[in-house]
This record gives sequence, C-alpha cells and structure tokens, in this order.
Amino acid sequence: MKVFVALNIPVKGIDHMRQAGLDVTVWDQDRPMTPEELIRKVQDFDALLSMGMYKIDNAFLNKCKHLKIISQFSVGYDNIDIAEATRLGIPIGNAPNAMTDATADVAFGLMMAVSRKMFYMHKTIQAGKWGPFKPQANLGKELKNKTLGIFGLGRIGEAVAQRCRGAYQMEVLYCNRSPKPDVAAPLDATLVDFETLLSQSDIISVHCALNSTTRGLFNKTAFDQMKPSAIFINTARGSIHNEPDLIQALRDNTIWGAGLDVTDPEPMKSDNPLLTMENVAILPHIGSATVEARTEMSRLAAENIIQFAKGNKIPNLINVSLQTGK
Ligand code: DGY
Repeated sequence: MKVFVALNIPVKGIDHMRQAGLDVTVWDQDRPMTPEELIRKVQDFDALLSMGMYKIDNAFLNKCKHLKIISQFSVGYDNIDIAEATRLGIPIGNAPNAMTDATADVAFGLMMAVSRKMFYMHKTIQAGKWGPFKPQANLGKELKNKTLGIFGLGRIGEAVAQRCRGAYQMEVLYCNRSPKPDVAAPLDATLVDFETLLSQSDIISVHCALNSTTRGLFNKTAFDQMKPSAIFINTARGSIHNEPDLIQALRDNTIWGAGLDVTDPEPMKSDNPLLTMENVAILPHIGSATVEARTEMSRLAAENIIQFAKGNKIPNLINVSLQTGK
C-alpha cells in the first residue's frame, strides 16, 4: 500500500508504517501543499495521512475517490466532509488523546496569562515602557476560588478542570451534550445549561468540537450574558467564537479578558486589534505542540493506516459504519 504524508510529521509514525511494509512518501517542503498539488499528488497513492489545514471537502474527495483510507494527524476533523467520505466509502481516522495534557496546559496557561496581563506586560517592557512602581497600576485578578465553566467536558475539558481544581480550588460548572456523571463526580462539577454557564462562570473554557451547532456559538448574545469580570478561553477552534463580537465585547467591557490558542482565520493577521489589548493573550494554535503529543499523534495517525492495511479494525475511526476489519 502506498501512503502519502502531506506534511513532515515526527518520524515515529513514518518509521512505524515503513516497518509494517508500507511504501511511504512524505511531503518534504517546509510549507503546506496547495489544494491542487495535494489532489495531483495523491492520485498515485492508496492512503493519505492528512492534517487539519487541508480542506478534505466534497470537491477534494470526489477527485480522490480512489483513496482507501485517510488518517488525520489531529483529534479534530472539522476540515473533512465526513458525510461525503462515508458516502464514497472512504474511512477517516484521527489521533485522539495524544494532545489532552498539552492542550489543557495551554488553556490553563492562558487563564493565568490573561488574569495577570502577562503578554501585554511583556510587550510594555519591549516597548521601553517599564516605568516607576505604581500601587494601582497593572492590576490583574486572582484565580483562586473562582468558578470555572467548561464548555464540552471531554478529555481536554476534564484535564483543564483537574488543573483548576488542584491549583485554585475552583468550583466547576460544565455544559455538555449529555451528562457525564463519572467524569463530573471527582471534580465535584455541576451540569448546567448554556445560559447558566455563561452567567455564573468567572472563566469559560471552550473544549467542544467545531460543528454546525457550535460554529459562532460564542457571539454577542453569549458575551452579553457573561459577567463583566469574566475571562473567555478558547483552545478548541476559532470559529466557535465570533471574533468581531469578541473584540467588541472586550472593547465595551462586556467581558474582562480573553485567551485564545485558536483564531478565525488562522493564521491571525499581525494587525488584529486583539493583539494590542491589555487583557488578551493569543497563541498560534500550539495546543498540541509538545514533543510528546506530536510524537504520539504521529504514531496514532499511522496506526490507523497500518491496521487497515493489515485488514484489522481501524483503531480510531470516525465514520464507524465503514469499520470492516477483523
Ligand atoms: C487537533 O488535534 O485537533 C489540534 O487542534 C491540532 O490541530
């Protein structure tokens, strides 16, 4: 089986596939492929190991229907038209779990960075503006005993809540499609509806998937219901919040601060007003960017293709109706 890897991922997964007898080619340029390049390239391959920045949409899939499997180097798969892939009989795998701690650390770090204006303070020093001590300047907020609102109590949401409980004894509220009593119990977390999450939380941290229900969910209507002292954190997908509404909410003091590891679009432009705001911290989608997480993501994404090639069950299959292995 011939596998095309569409960006240079950590070597573990590539070695793993080669050791399993697969014929692996890696896109070795230091830039993503254009859509045309990707379509042209995969014509000679049976399997694609893809990444979130590639649009695996209806048009792509219909030009690449020969693909026997696509495995994604990420947990998120909002870049893939799953319904069309399923219709065409192309199994789609992903790489969950690997980035749970790495992403939770970024969410937790952003909370601290925002609450103490850390990124902004760093910039003031760079700008030569570290002035004399003023007792009432540069004041942030403490996180201890605050109320954390988790939107999406999956693995990453749980890991964020654990950090906030352990470090700051936060009370945890969560909003989820279904109750998660086993996860919630050790966190002493309370299931609430969306409106309650918005109105009661001091910090809201977003950990859901991007889909038609969550796209643009954190908009003006949502920000208007949050506390003026609240901090909004998003490490999931940028399109879950409405960026112009977020900017306005911060300008109007509707909410106090925001920490984002994901933006819409990505990359964010360098003149984005969020980058100059005092109570804002932005990162360039580095949630999973640790050696440990990216190495494991590489292994997991490869494993889907290896097991499929062996006629076994695909370990992390999204369109489960296509599971055919033993
Ligand atoms: C994921 O795995 O979905 C992360 O966002 C990295 O892209």
